[in-house]
Amino acid sequence: MIQNVKLDLKNTKIAEKDIMQYAELIAEIHEDLHKKSKDKKEFLGWLELPTKYDKKEVEKIKKSAQKIREDSDILLVIGIGGSYLGARAVIEALTHTFYNYLEKGQRKTPQILYVGNNLSPNYINDLIELIGNKDLSINVISKSGTTMEPAIAFRIFREFLENKYGLKEAKKRIYVTTDKKNGALKQIAKQEDYTTFVIPNDVGGRYSVLTPVGLLPIATAGIDIDKLLEGAKFAQEKYLDKNLKYNDCYKYAVVRNMLYRDRKSMEILVSYEPKLHYIIEWWKQLFGESEGKNGKGLYPTGVEFTTDLHSLGQYIQEGKRNLFETVINIKESETDLKIKQDEDNLDELNYLVGKGLDEINKKAMEGTIKAHVEGNVPNIVITMDKLNAYNLGHLIYFFELACAVSGSILGVNPFDQPGVEKYKSNMFSLLGKPEKEQEPEKPKRGRPRKKVS
Ligand code: PA5
Repeated sequence: MIQNVKLDLKNTKIAEKDIMQYAELIAEIHEDLHKKSKDKKEFLGWLELPTKYDKKEVEKIKKSAQKIREDSDILLVIGIGGSYLGARAVIEALTHTFYNYLEKGQRKTPQILYVGNNLSPNYINDLIELIGNKDLSINVISKSGTTMEPAIAFRIFREFLENKYGLKEAKKRIYVTTDKKNGALKQIAKQEDYTTFVIPNDVGGRYSVLTPVGLLPIATAGIDIDKLLEGAKFAQEKYLDKNLKYNDCYKYAVVRNMLYRDRKSMEILVSYEPKLHYIIEWWKQLFGESEGKNGKGLYPTGVEFTTDLHSLGQYIQEGKRNLFETVINIKESETDLKIKQDEDNLDELNYLVGKGLDEINKKAMEGTIKAHVEGNVPNIVITMDKLNAYNLGHLIYFFELACAVSGSILGVNPFDQPGVEKYKSNMFSLLGKPEKEQEPEKPKRGRPRKKVS
């Protein structure tokens, strides 16, 4: 079997026989998840998505992505949380590190910029300045269609687009990704006749990267979404084995729970590749929102090494011993750089001559894992043979499934996020939102926009 994503648990010092104590529980959770996945109310649509996704919708996504590539210098992705992190994670992992800074000729696809994920006026004003006269399309993404941050950004940039192009052309540059029937955004899209993509009912925000939520921006950035879905399909089939002994995904879920029970309260996702910055952000949201409830859950956090070895490295090595690390190791770097001879050798680096930077990065990783494990920080290592769309599809599915299983071991519902509502109701009261509008939303009707004010 191809081992394109591999789990190594030796640096956790947890014995296989102890992991296998969970075999029966895992088999039950497995059966339960797969049984419930048939029920549309259970938010388990992501479980079989790689084999059951809507092929027509994916073709429509590819066509829209092609149109955006032809008529836009920028795609503005409006969304927050699960409605943006997955797309950004995949795009930043699989494109040039300085993708958005490249000159138009150097980059074959539009710049992908993100808004609606904060409430900073500086961010939006700076973005408007950056856009300048460039050609623009918008993909606004919100499952509920009522989240304040993207709703405000959409109001601002819809008007921006209408002022720039006029109503008729603006309509052709707005792509809405939302629920099939419900929500304010769905109402607006219907009224204005925008191109619309559907977020399946039974797929929650943080499990939605392989739906149109992630796929339209990812395809626009020129990434092969078929390969991404193929990798996820491979993972779906690979992790269908309910026998814990042969299921690395379930082993990861079990081991993180064993470490949690052993008083480790924080899991740090580690990468040695800056392109994975947003994979870490996506993973933090996936696990944080899924498990952090009822006074329970590992606190998911992340570091980028070697950068953070010069900041948080000290704490990880010698601070409070409540941590463990999960390292994402990319076996083969896409490019490399050889260290050259320097006659003077004043920097005393000639001992590295002939070595590739990737080898040096790997030695930093090996040395760090050894040091941290000796410092009583267990390390789980997940190795991908290469950073590409196929393997990333696999990794995404691996983490989504592991998260659902891990939350079930913990005894929480991994598919809700009731705590997120608390800040919202306070904020709405402070802003004087009419109480009627704070209730669960009922469909509203308006009239199509006639003129730009
Ligand atoms: O995972 C989730 O469900 C959340 O993080 C949502 O994705 C986030 O709150 C955005 O919600 P919406 O897509 O409804 O705007």
